[in-house]
Amino acid sequence: CYAAVLAERNKNFAKVMESDVLAFENFLGKEGVLKDDITLNTTDWTGQFKGPGSVVLFPKNTEQVSAILAYCSKNKLAVVPQGGNTGLVGASIPVHDEVVLSLSKINNSFSFDDTMGILKCDAGFILEDLDNKLASLGYMVPFDLGAKGSCQIGGNIATCAGGIRLIRYGSLHAHLLGLTVVLPDEHGTVLHLGSDIRKDNTSLHTPHLFLGSEGQLGVITSVTMTAVPRPKSVQSAMLAVTSFEKCCEVLKLAKSSLSEVLSSFEFLDEATMKCLKTNLDLHSVLGTPSAFCVLVETSGSNEDHDMAKMGAFLDECLSKELILDGVLAGSSADATKMWQLRESAPLAVSRDGYVYKHDVSLPLKNYYELTNVMRERCGDLAKSVVTYGHVGDGNTHLNITSEKHSEALENLLYPFLYEWVVAHGGSISAEHGIGQLKLPYSELGKQPEERLLVKKLKNIFDPNGILNPYKMI
Ligand code: FAD
Ligand code: MLT
Ligand code: ZN
Repeated sequence: CYAAVLAERNKNFAKVMESDVLAFENFLGKEGVLKDDITLNTTDWTGQFKGPGSVVLFPKNTEQVSAILAYCSKNKLAVVPQGGNTGLVGASIPVHDEVVLSLSKINNSFSFDDTMGILKCDAGFILEDLDNKLASLGYMVPFDLGAKGSCQIGGNIATCAGGIRLIRYGSLHAHLLGLTVVLPDEHGTVLHLGSDIRKDNTSLHTPHLFLGSEGQLGVITSVTMTAVPRPKSVQSAMLAVTSFEKCCEVLKLAKSSLSEVLSSFEFLDEATMKCLKTNLDLHSVLGTPSAFCVLVETSGSNEDHDMAKMGAFLDECLSKELILDGVLAGSSADATKMWQLRESAPLAVSRDGYVYKHDVSLPLKNYYELTNVMRERCGDLAKSVVTYGHVGDGNTHLNITSEKHSEALENLLYPFLYEWVVAHGGSISAEHGIGQLKLPYSELGKQPEERLLVKKLKNIFDPNGILNPYKMI
């Protein structure tokens, strides 16, 4: 794994001793400290990052997190905060012998103002559980991702998760109101940042520093954010498109004609469909094979109105010959089938072999050019070159597989790929973050002064550098 090669163990950090374990058991009880069988907490979803780790802690509340961080700070023990461990850049996995601090037991407190749509809850709630709670109140979380059954709201904030509804509801910056965080200082200082109300311009917007902070600044234990009314009518359609240029034309049309009800615009190429079929036996819902598939969703409050809009949009796509074919889901089971194709894409590529995963933003004119350039560059060294993603947000997930890890392929890919992205005005991480995976390239295209500012901020929050070392900052 990259970071093990890159980052030597920092000798300023102490090693976890039996006396430390006893101290942790004193704070948390024996049931809150795991020493054996910690592989689940030291291996990531892809299986590509495996840390040795030493001990996993399961605090049940903010006070216990505070006691742990105060102790670790005084005793120079490094700590990795961990949510649902679904991250895709190795950010939640220890590199050496860091203590893993799992948030999964901090999931009790939940309150919701159903007039203002303001949610306040513990950080360890699993996203899907939270969404189910909101469903019974007529609301939903304003973002959605394939890992919803395991990822946690605190982890979503720490990664600034994107997902499939960003085109409609914006990024988490649009929804975050307040956070409770614990600092890795010798007091385990507990900060209540922002507020529980919708508008508050009385200070710097400090909670937002934690969005995408990847566990570098503090441990999030509680989140206050807005939820959105749960749509009463949802339509999904899958479209067959012959060229990427036409996908962009369809996107333009969707924005102008579906406008306020458009809630998703996702993309899968032919290689993804092949991977889904070969590795998961999942078949396209479209009769006509095509170079590209687009999945369009509308969400609104009036079924007749929304259906009429979707119908008119599909007719226009056909009459302008933007699409070869289109299927409108006639039932929620049909829609589930379409979404299963999109949401299973990460699993399908992971079954293909060793995966070089990418998550980059690009101007749309260069979006699929990247896939073409890399397909040609990799030639026979790659088994599959697969692209799916949030095309409506300019975010592509280019996945390149090989039977097994290949140094020759890796050398062809890097740093070429990330330099190409930056040279074309893109970002090397649209939504997954830097973690361990992209650390070698994290300075590409960044102003050195900005990097310095970020390091100074890290130093204020974490003067001993014990929180999630060897990663983003
Ligand atoms: P973890 O993986 O446990 O941690 C991620 C980072 O956050 C680590 O740096 C960790 O230290 C830190 N962290 C976690 N919890 C806290 C906390 N309470 N306080 C401080 N730091 C914390 N991501 C997207 O953006 N969009 C997608 O569409 C998407 N789809 C996915 C689909 C699949 C099948 C999978 C496996 C992953 C997908 N992801 C996606 C990536 C991942 O699910 C997200 O990054 C998610 O937000 C991570 O949440 P988590 O709770 O699993 O965090
Ligand atoms: C997705 O959009 O499916 C996720 O970000 C996961 C991935 O990139 O594989
Ligand atoms: Zn994604």
